[in-house]
Amino acid sequence: MKKAGSATDPLWYKDAVIYELHVRAFQDSNGDGIGDFPGLMSRLDYLQDLGVTCIWLLPFFPSPLRDDGYDIANYNDVNPSYGTLNDFKLVLDAAHQRNMQVLIELVINHTSDQHPWFQAARLAPPGSPERNMYVWSDTDKLYEGVRIIFTDTEKSNWTWDEVAKQYYWHRFFSHQPDLNFDNPRVMEEVLNAMRFWMDMGVDGLRLDAIPYLVERDGTSCENVPETHVKIKEIRAVMDAEYSNRLVLAEANMWPADVRPYFGDGDECQMAFHFPLMPRMYMALRQEDRLPITDIMAQTPDIPPSCQWGIFLRNHDELTLEMVTDDERDYMYYAYSADPRMRINVGIRRRLAPLVDNNRRRIELLNSLLLSFPGTPIMYYGDEIGMGDNIYLGDRNGVRTPMQWNSDRNAGFSTAVPARLYFPVILDPIYGYQAINVEAQLSDQSSLLHWTRNMIALRKLFQVFGRGTLEFLSPANRKVLAYIRHYEGPDGHSETVLCVANLSRFAQAALLDLKQYESMVPVEMLGYVPFPPITDQPYAITLNPYSFFWLELQPAMEAPQPPIPISDEEAAEIALHPIDVPQTAATQPDVSRAVVPDAS
Ligand code: GLC
Ligand code: CA
Repeated sequence: MKKAGSATDPLWYKDAVIYELHVRAFQDSNGDGIGDFPGLMSRLDYLQDLGVTCIWLLPFFPSPLRDDGYDIANYNDVNPSYGTLNDFKLVLDAAHQRNMQVLIELVINHTSDQHPWFQAARLAPPGSPERNMYVWSDTDKLYEGVRIIFTDTEKSNWTWDEVAKQYYWHRFFSHQPDLNFDNPRVMEEVLNAMRFWMDMGVDGLRLDAIPYLVERDGTSCENVPETHVKIKEIRAVMDAEYSNRLVLAEANMWPADVRPYFGDGDECQMAFHFPLMPRMYMALRQEDRLPITDIMAQTPDIPPSCQWGIFLRNHDELTLEMVTDDERDYMYYAYSADPRMRINVGIRRRLAPLVDNNRRRIELLNSLLLSFPGTPIMYYGDEIGMGDNIYLGDRNGVRTPMQWNSDRNAGFSTAVPARLYFPVILDPIYGYQAINVEAQLSDQSSLLHWTRNMIALRKLFQVFGRGTLEFLSPANRKVLAYIRHYEGPDGHSETVLCVANLSRFAQAALLDLKQYESMVPVEMLGYVPFPPITDQPYAITLNPYSFFWLELQPAMEAPQPPIPISDEEAAEIALHPIDVPQTAATQPDVSRAVVPDAS
């Protein structure tokens, strides 16, 4: 018997809205200055209200925390700072009760040098299975030319070990030795770790840094065929023993190199779309849609069961590895005026500061995130426009405590402030007194309310997670326009026209919509019908950085509100019939229409 995950639909990840968070940063329950699972438990209602359907937890395993937990010292336990294994299980079950799936990390490329396997390996004789859990060499000339990833801290992919009297291989920090996938014991251990968490009911695993699993001399040691064999093996075991589970590939590669991580639908069901991300920022800054349409044109089709994971920001630097040299120069120039904002090959800033705290730009980027093909992944704190602290080391500036209210430590912890794992953001613009959940909940026009409404709206239409994408090509390149289309299994279909103005000035564009002649575009936030489409170019005007999501409906049907209105509203409408379209059109808050969980 296969063990089923919490979702009922095996393709649940296609309709998901994922929220990425670190338990350490979310809520501290016991006043030690470190977020923990009981704290997260107390914030699940918040996540449910926000409308996200899946929580991605950054690594929470025992670890010396020299790479924020990606340096694992024990795969099958919880770091005691965050609580116990049982605390984790309680959160997992409580998330499932709220119909939320839980995605965790399976970091299999490397461990911490404090992992007992590494400590044993150093002492074991060369050539023994214990030593061979990792990749060793007598010379640091093996695999010469393989690029270094953490360019700011590492000089080589090899580090000499005084105890073993050999070099060990590491693609990341020197305290993170790479596991040796040529040793069958490594795969056994990886599968044990997978089973440990999947048996408990975890719905998905993010496979960290998988392009680097297997090394082969004379290659870049990235994406080698043997690596794909290993991932297929993991997937096969998962499919044989579990149902409705997910593996998500972290492969920071060009689209053509990521494509093989989907296999024939027999590797990862999901993979991040890394190259799209910087190009959204580039298109915005250049006020030109080309960077986006260009990378999407280079994005290959993927098997029907597969899905892209798309994001604006995450816990790492905004990586600029998957852009050309010119594009990288431009991004550094446009988005990181202060050199402290840069790290490795990227920019360590959060969404709001990247766009100068401009609400319309934040909304525009989110509207793309929520309407492009794939599953959107939001980074904690970005829904309220949190800031960053570029004076913290490494990528820690974007990992500061969640800002819940204007009490001490932003409501994150009752500890004395000096004890917090990282200081809360304090500056006058992004500080917790200005930016916090409580204030934004009480403000109907806050970014938090806006985000919640957009998530709710997206979830009413499967087209966003499952539909096709086709770009229109209006002469005005400051306007990005695309059609999403989905044919459901039951003959029901959805067609949505998205139009976005990438410019800081108002724009007009003529769209060729002949194909949809006589249909009526209905603005989806307010359910407001626009003029019907004719055989002539369709004229559309947009405010600076504004966007429309327009459902194309047959003329007869338009417009039908998705959900019946309340009696009070009906009475209101009866009293003021003429105000109705006006009110609906100008009301950014659609909570009445879409929020009371429509599913
Ligand atoms: C992934 C993680 C990153 C980590 C690295 C090494 O890229 O996202 O945070 O430092 O792997 O484990
Ligand atoms: Ca704590």
